Amino acid sequence: MPETTMLRFVQILPQVSPQGDFLLQDLPGSGRRIDVLCRDLAACFEWGPKSWSKSNLEMVAVIGTEKILTFRNPQNQAPHSEVGWALVVRESLRGRPPSYVHVSDGTLGEVVRHLIQDEDAKLWVLDESGASLSDCQSCFHTTQNSFMLGDHRGFDSQSLAVISQFDIQRISLGKKSYLSSHALAAIISEFERKVR
Ligand SMILES: C[S@@+](CC[C@H](N)C(=O)[O-])C[C@H]1O[C@@H](n2cnc3c(N)ncnc32)[C@H](O)[C@@H]1O
Repeated sequence: MPETTMLRFVQILPQVSPQGDFLLQDLPGSGRRIDVLCRDLAACFEWGPKSWSKSNLEMVAVIGTEKILTFRNPQNQAPHSEVGWALVVRESLRGRPPSYVHVSDGTLGEVVRHLIQDEDAKLWVLDESGASLSDCQSCFHTTQNSFMLGDHRGFDSQSLAVISQFDIQRISLGKKSYLSSHALAAIISEFERKVR
């Protein structure tokens, strides 16, 4: 497997308001679980990768039904706390993103269509009840892998409809349910182990 494989995580947050109107002191309540994304970002760009290049990691957040935030290689601009990431997300939703965040309008269906358009790109759903990652060798032989993550409740009915429309395969890290940030970190670590 090439070390240049792109690992992309797609966090689905159907409850979160796209206005960026949450309080930093109450991310789960006022942000309707925006804390899930903040922890994902810290896992993706701070503590998750040990040897995987951060330039080969990407985080996409589908906010509500209409806003897409894409985070790419923040380099030395990455904040160092959950609240630091929350500020970046809030400023991005308010139309003031830093250079490493791209903000666009779009739906989950459009994101999925875009992610599977390249021949060497694969998209998976991370789901406790899916097939074991170790049985899914094809993901270690492709140059772009994207993994969809549910929020604290898993996947809502609209996301499930998209998953079934595009027939996206489910991959599991085991029956135990992890925080999505830890599921994301476990995937990075599995890929690091494979190239070692
Ligand atoms: C906190 S879990 C979702 C809640 C969980 N379905 C429940 O109801 O207890 C958040 C997300 O992390 C991912 N995840 C957590 N544990 C996982 C596992 N063992 N295997 C694969 N994905 C997992 C899934 O995408 C899941 O939707």
